[in-house]
Amino acid sequence: MGIKCSVYIAASVDGFIARPDGDVDWLHRPEYSAPEAGDYGYEEFIASIDTLVMGRNSFEKVLSFSEWPYGEMPVVVLSSSGPVIPKELQDRVTVQNAAPEEVVSRLSALGRRHLYIDGGITIQRFLRMGLIDEMTITRIPILLGDGIPLFGAIGTELQLEHIATNSYENGFVQNRYRVIGDNDAQE
Ligand SMILES: NC(=O)c1ccc[n+]([C@@H]2O[C@H](COP(=O)([O-])OP(=O)(O)OC[C@H]3O[C@@H](n4cnc5c(N)ncnc54)[C@H](OP(=O)(O)O)[C@@H]3O)[C@@H](O)[C@H]2O)c1
Repeated sequence: MGIKCSVYIAASVDGFIARPDGDVDWLHRPEYSAPEAGDYGYEEFIASIDTLVMGRNSFEKVLSFSEWPYGEMPVVVLSSSGPVIPKELQDRVTVQNAAPEEVVSRLSALGRRHLYIDGGITIQRFLRMGLIDEMTITRIPILLGDGIPLFGAIGTELQLEHIATNSYENGFVQNRYRVIGDNDAQE
């Protein structure tokens, strides 16, 4: 389809992307501030994206932030329950209730080329369908013990190719992987 789907996400060492109640404040602890780290490649990543696709839970969390962090970027919120889109975002945020492959094919038909897939459940659904091409995962040096998982039982085995690892003085370790594909399908 000529369209690429990427993940760019932070996770605790024990694999959670948020506390059980969705809190992500632990990502911004003062001891993590590391000027030498810059933005961990975020701006470069975002500049390569033309559409952000996120699950409703992530969208609702972002709405609770003091400002909308994605500027004019087109955002697709996946939801079966029709979340309310604030008026000021209606020109760039749309809602879709569709299977991941349908979402990708609709966006491809619109000429989109690089999708940022966000939210734990959403990433897992895209992985399950073999739709994720690349993942950048920044491990934060904390064990949350419990929370919302990045990964789960996706019902298939996926081979990854390691692209790069960067480590930062504040203890963040960023791994970049290409998703090669389903091991069962290759046998
Ligand atoms: N650490 C980080 O970098 C990071 C990044 C992103 C998010 N987060 C955190 O992760 C939490 C959210 O993650 P999450 O795993 O709970 O969920 P999520 O993926 O954000 O949202 C899941 C919801 O999206 C909807 N959905 C997903 N795929 C769909 C599809 N194909 N069609 C229709 N609806 C679909 C469903 O909502 P309905 O019930 O409406 O159908 C589903 O319950 C938040 O607390 C957020 O702050 C952390």
